Amino acid sequence: MAQTLTILGLESSCDDTAAAVVRQTGDGQAQVLSSVVFGQTELHSAYGGVVPEIAARAHVEKLDLCVVQALDEAALGLQDLDAVAVTAGPGLIGGVMSGVMCAKGLSAATGLPLIGVNHLAGHALTPRLTDGIAFPYLMLLVSGGHCQYLIAHGPESFTRLGGTIDDAPGEAFDKTARLLGLPQPGGPSVEAESQGGDPKRFRFPRPLLDRPDCNLSFSGLKTALMRVRDQIVAEKGGLTRQDRADLCAGFQQAVVDTLAEKTRRALRLYMAENPSEPAVAVAGGVAANTAIRATLETVCAEQGARFTAPPLKLCTDNAAMIAYAGLERFRAGARDGLDLTARPRWPLDQSSPSMLGSGKKGAKA
Ligand code: KG4
Ligand code: ZN
Repeated sequence: MAQTLTILGLESSCDDTAAAVVRQTGDGQAQVLSSVVFGQTELHSAYGGVVPEIAARAHVEKLDLCVVQALDEAALGLQDLDAVAVTAGPGLIGGVMSGVMCAKGLSAATGLPLIGVNHLAGHALTPRLTDGIAFPYLMLLVSGGHCQYLIAHGPESFTRLGGTIDDAPGEAFDKTARLLGLPQPGGPSVEAESQGGDPKRFRFPRPLLDRPDCNLSFSGLKTALMRVRDQIVAEKGGLTRQDRADLCAGFQQAVVDTLAEKTRRALRLYMAENPSEPAVAVAGGVAANTAIRATLETVCAEQGARFTAPPLKLCTDNAAMIAYAGLERFRAGARDGLDLTARPRWPLDQSSPSMLGSGKKGAKA
């Protein structure tokens, strides 16, 4: 039986400072012993987006507190750990460097092995941590900074089938909320507002559905919404509550329809290569959207695939996913030295061409 491993994970690639302890026993059962996340929403709220410099400073201030709290909550000390895993990219470089430096300090002081983790691999491996899902599976990452379809073959082996060529869907939700004067983060406010809305009153574009591939685009959707908003304001002098609800419902329906169709295509491609017991997993903050989740579930059921969505707190940015991804690398024999570098870009699938978009996390990996 394999050895029990206990790993400390650190995450600081965007606007969440996080530390967590994950343990996996020899029988393969993994458990999150603690997962601490210090958000920075209020620090950035006046600027309408994440300010990299403010984020990096806040990470530096909070990382050590976060580590202490994660160890306390797990009732463990540094001597009980087998390794320290840290997000080494992709992300906002100042934040990634803060985490990498903190992890190097811990490793140098204790002698614990250091493991650099790709943030996207953290998201993509989460269904293995939460549901023990076996390789291979099809992964859809949808958040404020990411949007891609990946086939996960192994802890460090991914094939990208497609992704956004501009904004990520969470970014589109956030920008839509801003255009309509709704609070941030935009996803939950747009979803709540769309409850009383008519999704058919405004027909927004379903971008790139005319192309056969799995790429997506969301920036035109936001421009189309702005045009309709301006037209209503010009005609009536402002938006009624119903106008706002209908705009939100129309926007959300366009995102739902686009993700449904592209998921259908990605699943067909995936199943052509992996026909037995197909499995699909979703992660990222946008996976919290009830309409999107329900639609993805239906698409999977139509094609006979198992659908997994990790609990929300492990879908959004956290360090448990980094500890777990580090654990998988550690088991496979990977070790990093004190020369580990922070990388702003780090595509999971090195062989596929880089995407064009540049979102709040910097260039899309
Ligand atoms: O994964 P996450 O916490 O951070 C990033 O890596 O970006 O995702 C945050 C994103 C935000 O853009 C937020 O508006 C979006 O996820 N989001 C939602 C919902 N809840 C959060 N989007 C649509 N519907 C939701 N219910
Ligand atoms: Zn993320």
